[in-house]
Amino acid sequence: MSAGGYPPAISFQSVSKSYPSSRGLKGERFLALDSVDLEIQPGEFFGLLGPNGAGKTTLITILAGLTQASSGRVSVMGHDVQTDFAAARRALGVVPQELVFDPFFNVREALVFQSGYFSVRHNAAWIDELLESLGLTDKAHANMRALSGGMKRRVLVALALVHKPPVIVLDEPTAGVDVELRQTLWHFIAKLNKQGHTVLLTTHYLEEAEALCGRIAMLKTGKVVALDSTSALLSSASGNVLRCTVDGELPAELASKARVTGRVVQLPAVDALAVEHYLTQIRQAGLTVRDIEIRRPDLEDVFLQVMNQHPGRDDRSLV
Ligand SMILES: Nc1ncnc2c1ncn2[C@@H]1O[C@H](COP(=O)(O)OP(=O)(O)OP(=O)(O)O)[C@@H](O)[C@H]1O
Ligand SMILES: [Mg+2]
Repeated sequence: MSAGGYPPAISFQSVSKSYPSSRGLKGERFLALDSVDLEIQPGEFFGLLGPNGAGKTTLITILAGLTQASSGRVSVMGHDVQTDFAAARRALGVVPQELVFDPFFNVREALVFQSGYFSVRHNAAWIDELLESLGLTDKAHANMRALSGGMKRRVLVALALVHKPPVIVLDEPTAGVDVELRQTLWHFIAKLNKQGHTVLLTTHYLEEAEALCGRIAMLKTGKVVALDSTSALLSSASGNVLRCTVDGELPAELASKARVTGRVVQLPAVDALAVEHYLTQIRQAGLTVRDIEIRRPDLEDVFLQVMNQHPGRDDRSLV
């Protein structure tokens, strides 16, 4: 229970999940989640971050009751996802990572059908609002098969929200989505969060997580390796970052420390001396440096620091 006596919106207690190992060795299991403990309170906007394969979707699939944890307890608004499945499922709206949909319906029919699944009647006004808010009004009668990838993702968001669930889970909702829809989507989700809906978001766009989430958990190889408020995570990052553009390939020693995007190089710098040292090394390599900027670390820098502090191969196999 939280301080106010309410159950958490989402609770994972010592959740582990193993799958048969893909190496095909008889009896060998792969540990996708390793004793995950997380509690998300009602009204939070919470970010779940981690590299590919960290276990984010597995955690969400367990939350939605679609997969069973190997051990541990999971609940939504106090309802156990196994023993009280119907109530837990009703409290939850999940936007899945994969584009799955029924090809026989048009958009509005799919939303009406989904309302029926949750026994919500007279839902036309809310369906209209969802279509409007997600820029789908003119696609209401289009068949799902005829929609573009980004449009399908909008429909998945609408489907997840059709029963106005108190807890909204978005598994990479902006993958493959254009800039305009991202803004529309975040505006809408932030509005729902202000109205009291709890939001759990996974994304690889760390600037989105930094802007939206009040608290963040980072997952690596099935374990929680960081959990704090976004502001505490940002201030935990040491030093500054040197950002500049260079006209060629960095020397190997620097490249191993840098975030490189095309010509833009970003290097963590403890102090001014480190900045000078980097610039000298770059110049000595015969490169020209332009557009020098020193900035505070952002969430992507923090993420990389955390992941580097928890090194190690992904060897989650159990025999
Ligand atoms: N049904 C399954 N059977 C076997 N292994 C699985 C299954 N589902 C997931 N895994 C494995 O569990 C690990 C975690 O996968 P998961 O999809 O949860 O990662 P993720 O953090 O969501 O990654 P991404 O950022 O790529 O979406 C991966 O190594 C994956 O191969
Ligand atoms: Mg995933």
